[in-house]
Amino acid sequence: MQVSLLMREINHMSSLEMSKAISARRTRQERRGAHKLDNSDEALEQLVTHFGKVSAATNDTGEEFDHTSAPGPKVNMSWWRQPKNQILAAGGLGVYMVASYASFHVYRIYSAPEPPPNISNPAFQAAQEQVYDRIAKDYDDSIGLDEFLMGLGSKRQAILKHAQGSVLEVSGGTGRNFAFYKPSKVSQLVITDKSAQMLQRAWAKHKTQHQTQVPTTLYVMSANKLDWPAEAFDTVVDTFGICSFSDPIAALKEMARVCKPGGKILLLEHGRSDYEWINSALDKTATAHAESWGCWWNRDVLGLVREAGLDVVETKRYHFGTTYHIVAQPGGSKSA
Ligand SMILES: C[S@@+](CC[C@H](N)C(=O)[O-])C[C@H]1O[C@@H](n2cnc3c(N)ncnc32)[C@H](O)[C@@H]1O
Repeated sequence: MQVSLLMREINHMSSLEMSKAISARRTRQERRGAHKLDNSDEALEQLVTHFGKVSAATNDTGEEFDHTSAPGPKVNMSWWRQPKNQILAAGGLGVYMVASYASFHVYRIYSAPEPPPNISNPAFQAAQEQVYDRIAKDYDDSIGLDEFLMGLGSKRQAILKHAQGSVLEVSGGTGRNFAFYKPSKVSQLVITDKSAQMLQRAWAKHKTQHQTQVPTTLYVMSANKLDWPAEAFDTVVDTFGICSFSDPIAALKEMARVCKPGGKILLLEHGRSDYEWINSALDKTATAHAESWGCWWNRDVLGLVREAGLDVVETKRYHFGTTYHIVAQPGGSKSA
């Protein structure tokens, strides 16, 4: 008898019926001269023990009946048949496989040849902006789990709570920030991106999932040259764009130019770590990663922000320093 059938049987039996069923089975087997319970009895025994249904059953005469003392051979379940041991074994196998997979990749990365010394300098990194047109269709599905595991939703929320007034978001991608703009604080939202395919996803998302009261406009436009006059916006936002700009300094300068004096430039980015062993891994894998994902994940984001002349007001680092939360202002705002 299959275990699922036994389960069903058990679920419909009272304790007394179950005790009787077990005794009857044993008697039948003893008559046949069987010395060992067959598999189905063993499984039934196992399930009954597991559910603890027959701990104090009653027989026909009303006496207490303990099936464990009923006649029949004692069952010694093998180690691997016990459910808790099966769970333990499956868990152990899972840990072993994850550890082997991780070890293989660590070995692969650290045994890779040394990259050129200027590998983290954007001036020496090939532009990969066109990659986003290719990956736009699957972009959200591809990064959704990573973002979830890294808790990036709360990081987006934390930086975007500073957004207010008229807001420009450059490299808006597929619109992953829509949900975090507060209609009570944001009067107007302008989203730009160089990739029309990425913006198409953003537009579709805006129409279906994130209809807000905030008037929103989308433009295909490079962050390196923004089509607005100086000081046009109260807040300028970029999340995970600096890694992919062909000229991040030009883009940051443009963001500062279109931001009002005293306005905020909000950046949530990823790049170099605080730890050299992580930077070594980022450098060795940077070219392959950029070719697949369009982003150079080994850039010194804070250094670039300072080099572009922005005043950094607040910084936080997460994930061994590879995720940057930066609140900045256009250069000279503090003294303005
Ligand atoms: C890693 S994605 C980030 C998307 C989005 N900001 C987010 O947080 O999910 C980088 C985006 O930057 C855009 N991008 C790359 N170079 C750009 C440029 N020069 N100007 C504007 N957008 C650019 C890409 O098309 C892509 O949508």
